[in-house]
Amino acid sequence: MTSRWLVAGCRGQLGHALVERLTAHPDCEVVAAVDREELDLADPQAVATLFDGLASNPPDVAVNAAAFTQVDRCEREPEAAERGNAIAPRVLAEACEKCGIRLVHVSTDYVFSGDSKIAYREHDEPGPRSVYGRTKLAGEEQVLTTASDSLIVRTSWLFGRGRNFIASILAQAREQRAGHASGPLRVVDDQYGRPTYAHDLAEAIRYLVERGAQGIYHVANHGVATWWELARESLDAAGYEDLSVERIRTDELTVEAPRPLRSVLDCSKAEALGVKMRNWRDAVGAYLASSDYPILEERGIG
Ligand SMILES: NC(=O)c1ccc[n+]([C@@H]2O[C@H](COP(=O)([O-])OP(=O)(O)OC[C@H]3O[C@@H](n4cnc5c(N)ncnc54)[C@H](OP(=O)(O)O)[C@@H]3O)[C@@H](O)[C@H]2O)c1
Repeated sequence: MTSRWLVAGCRGQLGHALVERLTAHPDCEVVAAVDREELDLADPQAVATLFDGLASNPPDVAVNAAAFTQVDRCEREPEAAERGNAIAPRVLAEACEKCGIRLVHVSTDYVFSGDSKIAYREHDEPGPRSVYGRTKLAGEEQVLTTASDSLIVRTSWLFGRGRNFIASILAQAREQRAGHASGPLRVVDDQYGRPTYAHDLAEAIRYLVERGAQGIYHVANHGVATWWELARESLDAAGYEDLSVERIRTDELTVEAPRPLRSVLDCSKAEALGVKMRNWRDAVGAYLASSDYPILEERGIG
């Protein structure tokens, strides 16, 4: 049976991947895909108008891939962070509950403090260290208390079409090679997490919904990395093996939002349901070879 989907945040990394994968899947139909250009998800009237417009072909599932994801900017703009990460999920959850639409909400490893030596399970105590983490946790709570049968998927270190760590490192590498920048790249080597390709996450979300999953699930690519290791892997895979990257510690870096040092997600609950995620190094290769990463020479095509 075909399932009908609404994707919110469709121009973001995950939203874009969701639309592509769901559209290509024979059992799925995307009946609506919206982002900030269409509406502000935190505006109840705008969301009501959207849902009214879909009344003749209503979605079975709504995925909220929209969020205010700029972690440092959230510290400077806490009200905007609250609006994007907590109020918007509540408004969407209320609309979904009213219309009997199943809500899938996406959240983050940054709801955890990162002080634990072992990987985080779904039921572990959150302890966000930043405005981003606190507002995302508030969004989770809003969804869980408002929308029955909802699914929350926490992920980490996402990369896909758009702004992300790998794209930024490779942009810096191009600057270096062109002689526009001097000095080595410097990347922190004491924060640990699980890099995740948006396309792999999109497929896992589709699968979890198909299996009727409810509550909180952790989904990320397999394996653990530091940001330095992710930078090194990306540079090597894109042909910058000769470029050196200096390893630095978090306390050598000045950033506005504190980051968890070890926000590794334990994904065994999703794995037990049959979610299969490839290793993050293979996922980086797949991303660089895809049209999500638009620099043709580095894809070996140009
Ligand atoms: N990126 C990561 O490393 C990461 C890690 C862990 C978890 N996550 C979670 O994964 C999900 C997807 O992240 P992503 O990286 O794909 O996000 P993204 O690329 O930053 O895209 C988010 C999209 O949501 C839109 N948006 C934000 N607030 C909105 C609002 N009030 N109304 C309508 N649209 C709004 C944004 O528009 P504007 O650009 O105009 O604001 C943007 O197009 C999010 O829930 C995020 O918290 C991300």
